[in-house]
Amino acid sequence: MDVKLTQRSDYTFKYNAQLGRHGWLRLTPAYSVKLVEEMMDGVPRDAFILDPFSGTGTSGLVAAEQGLSAHCLDINPFLVWLGNAKCRNYSQVELERLKTESDKVLADCKEIVNRDNWMPQIHNITRWWCKHTLNVLAALRKALVNRFGDPNKDGVANLAWIAFCRLVIETSSVAFNHVSMSFHDKAATYEVEQIESLYQKILNAIVESAGEELTGSASVHYEDSRQPVSIDGVQYSYVITSPPYPNRISYIRELRPYMYWTKFLDSAREAGELDWKAIGGTWGIATSRLQDWKSNGLDLPESLKPVVSQILESKKQNALLMANYVWKYFHDMHLHLQNLQKSLKKGAVLSYIVGNSSFYGVQVHTEKLLEDSLKNLGFTNIESKVIRKRNSKRELFEYCVYATWKGSTKREPQYFCRTKGLDRQLALF
Ligand SMILES: C[S@@+](CC[C@H](N)C(=O)[O-])C[C@H]1O[C@@H](n2cnc3c(N)ncnc32)[C@H](O)[C@@H]1O
Repeated sequence: MDVKLTQRSDYTFKYNAQLGRHGWLRLTPAYSVKLVEEMMDGVPRDAFILDPFSGTGTSGLVAAEQGLSAHCLDINPFLVWLGNAKCRNYSQVELERLKTESDKVLADCKEIVNRDNWMPQIHNITRWWCKHTLNVLAALRKALVNRFGDPNKDGVANLAWIAFCRLVIETSSVAFNHVSMSFHDKAATYEVEQIESLYQKILNAIVESAGEELTGSASVHYEDSRQPVSIDGVQYSYVITSPPYPNRISYIRELRPYMYWTKFLDSAREAGELDWKAIGGTWGIATSRLQDWKSNGLDLPESLKPVVSQILESKKQNALLMANYVWKYFHDMHLHLQNLQKSLKKGAVLSYIVGNSSFYGVQVHTEKLLEDSLKNLGFTNIESKVIRKRNSKRELFEYCVYATWKGSTKREPQYFCRTKGLDRQLALF
């Protein structure tokens, strides 16, 4: 491994903060615009790109900015909504109307700030916002609903909601400046006037970047990428994406505040249900479901078996849970790659940004294991390249895994035939 490899913050979400639409809302596992631009360099104008793990819509937006066409998929309805709002063109007339209506929203907010307005059921909510700030946010939310309705599929009012989401985070006690999120000791108090002026500032910045024309087109669809997907019958010649990594990071955990305030989420139970559907999901109920999870018999690469066995054999308290976690992650990714083939043009090029991980000292080489899945599924030209170091101390890296789809093959696959022993141990859990 190249020891000089650095953490390259220009290849992370941090690079995106000042980049217009890309900076509207952050998700720390978002990849960097710079990296995506490099991956899309040379993609011909008539090509169709697929991002099966859209997240904040970075690939879709870069494609649309570069005059390209893209379809993006995500299992999280909030991210589908956000991605579509980011990838849409807005006329100056719409944006002017939005500004006029938003001034009225702020006036309405002042009128209702002392009322008992709806607040989300976030556990320990005063850890996020003090009571005073909460009242102002609840009033502003109510004023937005009264004037614009809830966030919707399409329409300029979604920009007002994105500004509200941003406000919710900026007035909270959480910090998102590293891979996960953390709480400050105390939530700050904001007066109604301060919230108004902060909201206005955020909205103005969003409106300014929304006015910049996108010359290509991108749309985000609510789909499970493990299933065969067909959108308008399109066959893709490029897949550019960053799927979840097997590192137990939960997107729901980060997105919770936005999702509760915009009513995309109602309860902790619902959050766990949603995370269970996500590849690598591990929040709430998703963890307990993992304990009983069984593969449906999908044949996986032989190389996965020793990794799962070693985690199991570590005999640590949660060894069985972690072994199942890793197993299910690669099972789901294999299923995704298998079903993806049906949507690919012959010669389609795949670029997947992934990260490795380690459990109880057992190295999980995500890039190698995905390479093996791709090989078994008949992809060719498979290789991976290290992109950056993810952590200063531990051996955590980000890679780009490349492959080409040449069409169906008749080669004999080498499969992961589960041994009875391993099965039995996992079933014991
Ligand atoms: C690493 S994030 C993608 C970040 C994205 N590249 C960006 O720049 O924001 C992975 C995404 O995959 C989504 N996801 C997880 N499981 C999925 C599934 N089965 N089908 C579709 N999307 C899924 C998650 O909701 C998450 O948004």
